[in-house]
Parts: sequence; C-alpha cells; structure tokens
Amino acid sequence: MTRLSLLAVLVAVSLLGFSSVHAADTGQGNAARGKTLIYTCAGCHGIPGYENAYPNYRVPKIAGQNKQYILDALHGYRSGTRKHPTMDAQASSLSEQDMQDIATYLSSLATKPAKLGPKVGLKKATTCFACHGKDGQAVAANYPRLAGQYQNYMEQALHEYQSGQRNNAIMKGFASQLSDQDIKEITAYFHSLPSELSTLKYHIQGANEMGASN
Ligand code: HEC
Ligand code: HEC
Repeated sequence: MTRLSLLAVLVAVSLLGFSSVHAADTGQGNAARGKTLIYTCAGCHGIPGYENAYPNYRVPKIAGQNKQYILDALHGYRSGTRKHPTMDAQASSLSEQDMQDIATYLSSLATKPAKLGPKVGLKKATTCFACHGKDGQAVAANYPRLAGQYQNYMEQALHEYQSGQRNNAIMKGFASQLSDQDIKEITAYFHSLPSELSTLKYHIQGANEMGASN
C-alpha cells in the first residue's frame, strides 16, 4: 500500500468514526454502554422495596420504563422542573449521551407481564387511561408506565403534582381533581396490574437477599 492510499484509508476510517458519533448524538442509544453506567443507579433502584427517607416512599421501578419518559425525567431533574436532591445530582453528572445510553438500556428490560390483578379502583382510574392505558402500560413512550409501580411512590408523585413540587401542567390538572381516597384507590389499581417494570435488582450483588418482591 502506498503512503497516499494509507492516508486515504485513515481519513475514511476517521470520517466513519465521526459519523457514528454524530448518529449517537441525534438520539441513538447504546444499550451495552448504558448497562455499564447504571451500576450507581442500582444502588437505590436495584434494591427491592428500597425507601426514600423524608418523606418515606419507595424508590420507583425504572427497569422496563419507557425510553422517552426516562429521558424526560432525567432532563427534568437536570433543569429543575422536577426536584429531588439525589436525582438532581445524579442527572447533572450525566452527559446527554449517558442519558441516551441509560434510557435505551433500561427500556430494553421490559418483561412480559404474567398475572392479572384485581380491579380495585378501575372506575376512578378511567380518566387516566387516555395516556397511561387501561393496562397501565402507557399509550405512548413519553408517558410513564404505571402498571406494577410501587403504590406509595405513585401516591407521593400525585401529591407532589397537587402541591406543584413536581411541576407538570398536565398532571397538575388531573391530580388536583383527586381526593386522598381517590389517590389510594387509583394507585392500588395501577399497582395491581401485570407489570413490565422491575427494580434493577439483578445488577447489584446481594440484592436478592434483601426481601420484598420485585
Ligand atoms: C440515592 C438513591 C438514588 C440513586 C443513586 C439514583 N436514584 Fe433515581 N430516583 C431515586 C428516587 C428517590 C427517585 C424518586 C424521586 C422523585 O420523587 O422525583 C428517583 C427517580 C428516578 C427516575 C424517575 C422515575 C419515574 O418513574 O418518574 C429516573 C428515570 C431515575 N431515578 C433514574 C436514575 C438513574 C439513571 C440513576 C443513575 C445514574 C439514578 N436514578 C440513581 C433515588 C436514586
Ligand atoms: C393527558 C395525558 C395524561 C393523563 C390523562 C394522565 N396522565 Fe399521569 N402523566 C402524564 C405525563 C406526561 C406524566 C409525566 C409528567 C412528568 O414528567 O412529571 C405523567 C406522570 C404520572 C405519574 C408519575 C409516574 C412516575 O413514574 O413518576 C403518575 C403517578 C400519574 N401520572 C398518574 C396519573 C393518574 C392517576 C391519572 C388519572 C387521574 C393520570 N396520571 C392521567 C400524562 C397523563
């Protein structure tokens, strides 16, 4: 190979490298890289039933959540429209590419739901179906799946939409129409549904011994 054609090959290779970085910036996520990035996340999201302190509610299940919703949530923590001390810090430490990779990996973990739950709260939950789905699996990827999510996490979220601590115009409208009793029944309904969500429990050592299901 002559010097010149070697140079041409090098240029071609570096251009290829460039275009793949560019493709990644426009929304492609690398699940394999995401898997390596979520180890810190699993410290909380990987412990079944792990509780947030003050106020007490369960750290949400994020494995199997919709990709676009995960990105929206992380962007919300970073920009301050959604506030939680730990998550603000976590999100701020991630690059846009990290978020893409993490969201791609997490959303790939959706598992086929197995059992059918009871129908508590079905009637009251009807207004929520337009976006979150009767099956709680969300009708589009920018809406979170609720099926099988921890009940007291969802209660906390709804109270935060009511108070404005969690800032979302759509959900403020829906949550403000609900009494505490409505919230209990509706979240019981969504919690009882066959779920594609899970904790990241298989990503940390010893987590299986910590009790609690899923
Ligand atoms: C110290 C514990 C902790 C760590 C570490 C942590 N999280 Fe969280 N995460 C939480 C808690 C608590 C919430 C619920 C906060 C709220 O109410 O907004 C949450 C919420 C979220 C949500 C929103 C879920 C939803 O249903 O709206 C996403 C997405 C998320 N975390 C992703 C991550 C990622 C990605 C990492 C790692 C880079 C991470 N978290 C690390 C505790 C943690
Ligand atoms: C018009 C669409 C729409 C309807 C109808 C709707 N939601 Fe939502 N919901 C959303 C969106 C969008 C979000 C994400 C908001 C954010 O980023 O905080 C959300 C978030 C939530 C969350 C937080 C989930 C999480 O993982 O943090 C809960 C809980 C919730 N909705 C419950 C309900 C309930 C209960 C109803 C019915 C009373 C309802 N929603 C009706 C669009 C909707």
